[in-house]
Amino acid sequence: MRVLGIETSCDETGVAIYDSEQGLLADALYSQVKMHAEYGGVVPELASRDHVRKLLPLVQETLDKAGLSRGDIDAVAYTAGPGLIGALMVGASCGRAMAFAWDVPAVGVHHMEGHLLAPMLEETPPQFPFVALLVSGGHTQLVRVDGIGQYELLGESLDDAAGEAFDKAAKMLGLDYPGGPLIAKLAQQGDRSRFRFPRPMTDRPGLDFSFSGLKTFTLNTANDHRVDGQLDEQTKADIAAAFEEAVVDTLAIKCRRALQQTGLKQLVIAGGVSANSRLREKLGQEVRKQRAELFYARPEFCTDNGAMIAFAGCQRLLAGQRDDLSIITKPRWPMDTLESI
Ligand code: KG4
Ligand code: ZN
Repeated sequence: MRVLGIETSCDETGVAIYDSEQGLLADALYSQVKMHAEYGGVVPELASRDHVRKLLPLVQETLDKAGLSRGDIDAVAYTAGPGLIGALMVGASCGRAMAFAWDVPAVGVHHMEGHLLAPMLEETPPQFPFVALLVSGGHTQLVRVDGIGQYELLGESLDDAAGEAFDKAAKMLGLDYPGGPLIAKLAQQGDRSRFRFPRPMTDRPGLDFSFSGLKTFTLNTANDHRVDGQLDEQTKADIAAAFEEAVVDTLAIKCRRALQQTGLKQLVIAGGVSANSRLREKLGQEVRKQRAELFYARPEFCTDNGAMIAFAGCQRLLAGQRDDLSIITKPRWPMDTLESI
């Protein structure tokens, strides 16, 4: 089955074609980050309008890249939630309408299920069951995964998501949006031992997270070191390094606990923050100690993309799932309410 996947839940327009026999045939991405950077974060209405402009040309580009035409597509999968309502509506209504026009089935995909399954696009995919750490701009969750749609939430952030914390800390250091990759880059020049930031909620049992205190700690540290309102470049890099180290350590401690608690030997990391190389390195060390394995997607499939939606949609379509003609988007959509297949 050849599935056209569409992602428009936030600030990336992603399109891909996944074939259940041949794998990923083509993908294309248009990122709006430059447009939103001017405002220091995503402006929802601008995001929706830009998806309107970019989506159909991107569908054509993806078909061309794959050397296919519309008639070669067997089904359409689009992100139905969670995300920004206006942005979701663009992908959902275009996707549903194209499927109707081409007389093929359509399915609405859960964005975080897309992230979660993205590592399965790689050469050595994880096998169910496994523990997944989902770390994106909107979510930080530890999930026990027994199959597609069989998700048990083990823990989650009580306030900011990990990616959101990266973005806010970056803003405090005067970096652009999205801040995660910029903090990571700056941290490479930093001294990781100059400042010690707290590892929130690691001194008590459980698998929940909290990152808002870390944000305040970052702000206070920055303010304490400003000279004439300015931070020198080295101090900025040292703060970035201390912040990254604290987030990565906190995530690693909880992943270790989740592996121990479940007795599982595979850890999957997914979502934008899973592109972070320090996180990959630390978790790599952690799983070796636990005699477990670590899985992640290539960096461009960690952040939002169409390939993960085409793949996740394909799995559900193969299992017989079909949506009717209504166009449904769910800005909020708990992942543990998904049907198992
Ligand atoms: O999954 P994603 O593309 O979008 C959402 O579903 O939210 O994640 C975006 C988030 C942003 O907060 C961004 O700063 C963060 O992922 N991110 C990173 C890195 N690359 C992206 N955070 C830390 N290190 C990175 N290398
Ligand atoms: Zn995402």
